[in-house]
Amino acid sequence: MCGVIGYVGSKSCARLIFDGLKRLEYRGYDSAGIAVLDHGKIELVKAEGKLVHLEPRLEELPLKATMGMGHTRWATHGAPTARNAHPHLHGDLVIIHNGIIENYRELKEQLMKSGVEFKSDTDTEVVLHQLHAELERTKDLKAAIMETVKHLRGAYALGIMYAREPGQMYVVKQGSPVVLGAGDGENFFGSDALALLPHTNRAVFLMDGEFARLKADSIEVWDFAGKSVRRDPAVLNWSASSADKQGYKHYMLKEIHEQPAVMSSILSRLVDLKENTFVDKETGIDALDLGRIKNVAIVACGTAHYAGQIGRYMIEEFTRLPANVELASEFRYRNPCIDASTLVIAVSQSGETADTLACVKHAVERGCQVMSICNVRFSSIPRASHAVLYMEAGPEVGVASTKAFTAMVLSFYVLSLAIGEKLKTVAARRLEKSFDSMRHLPALVDRAVNAAGVIEEIAHKLYEAQNMLFIGRGPSFPVATEGALKLKEISYIHAEGYAGGELKHGPIALVDRHMPVVSIAPRDNQYEKMISNIEEVRARQGRIIGVGDIEDERFRSICEHYIPCPQIGDDHLQSILSVIPLQLLAYYVADMRGTDVDQPRNLAKSVTVE
Ligand code: M6R
Repeated sequence: MCGVIGYVGSKSCARLIFDGLKRLEYRGYDSAGIAVLDHGKIELVKAEGKLVHLEPRLEELPLKATMGMGHTRWATHGAPTARNAHPHLHGDLVIIHNGIIENYRELKEQLMKSGVEFKSDTDTEVVLHQLHAELERTKDLKAAIMETVKHLRGAYALGIMYAREPGQMYVVKQGSPVVLGAGDGENFFGSDALALLPHTNRAVFLMDGEFARLKADSIEVWDFAGKSVRRDPAVLNWSASSADKQGYKHYMLKEIHEQPAVMSSILSRLVDLKENTFVDKETGIDALDLGRIKNVAIVACGTAHYAGQIGRYMIEEFTRLPANVELASEFRYRNPCIDASTLVIAVSQSGETADTLACVKHAVERGCQVMSICNVRFSSIPRASHAVLYMEAGPEVGVASTKAFTAMVLSFYVLSLAIGEKLKTVAARRLEKSFDSMRHLPALVDRAVNAAGVIEEIAHKLYEAQNMLFIGRGPSFPVATEGALKLKEISYIHAEGYAGGELKHGPIALVDRHMPVVSIAPRDNQYEKMISNIEEVRARQGRIIGVGDIEDERFRSICEHYIPCPQIGDDHLQSILSVIPLQLLAYYVADMRGTDVDQPRNLAKSVTVE
């Protein structure tokens, strides 16, 4: 987590760095700081809390400074206070850090024994003092960096400036994301390409175990052993405006409304809907040895994990391969039964989630084939995988994932059908029906998104609730859990998602006349069972908020509130349509409660610590 950004060039940099931090604030917003180097002197400002608290202090920085770096923090070690805010300064040396130094305690003890006094409670400060000590010894910053990394265990993206070496800064990468931006007469670094997009679309991706020296007119890269590495810039295809709010009150609302376009764009890249064929190069399956696959393991976190659960249903139905879905943070550490016959599918919007990345690396070591479904091009997870399906949903800035979820589900749909077609496990009639459903999907998603008015009214009735349950069966079960996650993470209302049939095994004890139960019952093969589960809740006076077919009067009649949802006649794709009302419900409830919808407390968009 944490966002880092740096600039070296000829422009006044304090505001430029601050604006870059704003684009990275979704990564963490506990505290922030900026350091600039001007006339051989480092000047520093820091503030607790969000960037708005740092902004008034920008004028304390010299306007003429043309190199500097900034940090927005998601606290891991040390409270979210100004004292623990980055950058950290010691003498002429200043650093920023994203990641965790796992052996910081032992390093701290050693450094303290040698007389170092610490000014913060962070793990980062040990890097600063270790580097300072190595610099005293080697008198050369590049050599000191190479010595310092030998002592560090954990993950880090570091930005380093040294007042005695003006005009240049170092960037070090091990396990945490960082991208270099190549400009004309100016160069940048940032935690992700979004922060750099207003200035350049040419990005240089460092690998783990590499570091770079940035000057205004050059970027040099070495590995940790000091061997020079050649890295040509890649051209990014996102525009800076795609990361703006474009008139919406929040990024989340904008991203919900982008879903029809995202569905169209995914389909136009992955599928030829005129010929009813798949584009193997884009689905990534041309990079797989399909004949080798005997089982599938899907790994992901949070929303991506719920998308993976729907993905599992599709993989099993269309490919007849046994599939498991697992939380990445659990999978990696339990000696899973995977081998060369396993296809591991890692799902991640950011492509940087540390737990998911660890699974990918582990699976590669175990000889599995690894495919990733990701949004951010060139991010760490796709780079570590054998095959990639890029969703290309555009930047998702709101911490609550919306368009990435539906993009993941659609990607799974296409991927599992494409594999099924190759393995001949999906009938021609089913394939034909699926192509037909895909043709209708974007228009139906558009209709679902445009039901926002009804949902806003219902949100008015619910926003003071203290608890909420979400229930569904089949693919609507992961939809229910995703709906509950959306609500809790942005509105702070306690919410849980359950399989409809599971309620009576315990959670139904929570139901009384105060409990809203959002019940998802599309017209699928579990409809009748689901209606029975809803009746069970109603019999205990639960408040039913139904999500179902526009014309389903029977369901509507048993609900306190009813959200009509377009039906597509395909159980898997229906989950894309059913989740949209839940995204909107969470959004309006949170907005009415006055929470910070795009940057909910304690969270960060990109979770780069395990
Ligand atoms: O970038 P990823 O898709 O790997 O992120 C995984 C989760 O951290 C993410 O989905 C998280 O749960 C979201 N805040 C949910 O809205």
